[in-house]
Amino acid sequence: MVPSGSAGKGRVLSGMRPTGRLHIGHFFGALQNWVRLQDEYECFYFVADWHALTTDYADSSQVAANCIEIATDWLACGLDPARCTMFVQSWVPEHAELHLLLSMVTPLGWLERVPTYKEQLENIRDKDLHTYGFLGYPLLQTADIVMYGVPGRALFVPVGEDQVPHVEMSREVVRRFNISFAPYEEELRQLSLEARVSRLANEGKSVPQTLVEPDVLLTRTPRIPGTDGRKMSKSYNNAISLTEDDDPIRAKTRVMMTDPARKRRADPGNPDVCPVFDWHNLFSSAETLAWARDGCRTAAIGCIECKAAMADNLIRWIAPVRERRKEYEAQPARVRQILEEGASRARAAAGQTMARVRAAVIPQAASRLHAPQG
Ligand code: TRP
Ligand code: SF4
Repeated sequence: MVPSGSAGKGRVLSGMRPTGRLHIGHFFGALQNWVRLQDEYECFYFVADWHALTTDYADSSQVAANCIEIATDWLACGLDPARCTMFVQSWVPEHAELHLLLSMVTPLGWLERVPTYKEQLENIRDKDLHTYGFLGYPLLQTADIVMYGVPGRALFVPVGEDQVPHVEMSREVVRRFNISFAPYEEELRQLSLEARVSRLANEGKSVPQTLVEPDVLLTRTPRIPGTDGRKMSKSYNNAISLTEDDDPIRAKTRVMMTDPARKRRADPGNPDVCPVFDWHNLFSSAETLAWARDGCRTAAIGCIECKAAMADNLIRWIAPVRERRKEYEAQPARVRQILEEGASRARAAAGQTMARVRAAVIPQAASRLHAPQG
């Protein structure tokens, strides 16, 4: 079954690495937006299990289980298999084939220049990341994205500012791929890639769109710091998971960081620099927000009651998510089936792209290898 009413719409592609249980930061940082996009675009959301190997190749024992975990979280958050295609990357092996073919035209310098590459190489000290796979991470990501492009239709990647250079590189790789494997007459083929582009432009011709350049869909997401004010992350132990029970929610929020200037109960505070207030913004009504804002500034309320009110509203928000999480958790076979159906839809889409790609890269081989058998 194909999600209904998606035929003429632009496509959206996004993925997440299966790193274990999701927390509320993942929801407000990405999933909330994914859920919204389901109605506007034909969406493909995938679990990037091969990407997990780029850093965790030394122990892949948790990868398969984490794929099911994260898909269960997605369903609990409101991804709807009737309105989007959700799948696991490695179940659509075309991603690896496209990655290989893209690697042929990708200059090493482009990969070395990606800002996150050097940064992570320096920051992640407990793993050896001097591997081909780790360097190629943004290129595998490019393959993931452009696999779902359809000539003549828009292709979007919803990302934050920090990911824009990745998508920019994807566009450059696509341009280089399209020009490298275009079926030109002898004379053009002898020119450098740059010269081919300008010659075509002079003649008023365009490069064939074997692959489609993606666009970023810049998404503004609300601020949701961890309980200690740093970025929310499981490894900092400052997160609330999507399955957190009431008691741990109350315990963790009770000791949350507040405006550091508000030392005593009688000191007025500034909600704009308080993580508790950031969370109020997400979970509380306009009325409660006004109560917290004014009460904080005038010291009419204390942090203890402010946090307790926020925790009540957080619990009210999380209860139905937690409930749906438990329902899907009890039916792993159903989750697996949703992913299988997603993978078969994704493979149908990937097959269309790969037919164009194979025909462009090695024309004769494409007609031999992929002709119908018999
Ligand atoms: N890099 C993303 C993450 O760490 C996962 C990812 C892989 C992705 N390929 C992608 C995201 C393509 C968007 C588009 O979670
Ligand atoms: Fe933060 Fe609320 Fe305390 Fe103000 S009263 S500092 S908003 S916890």
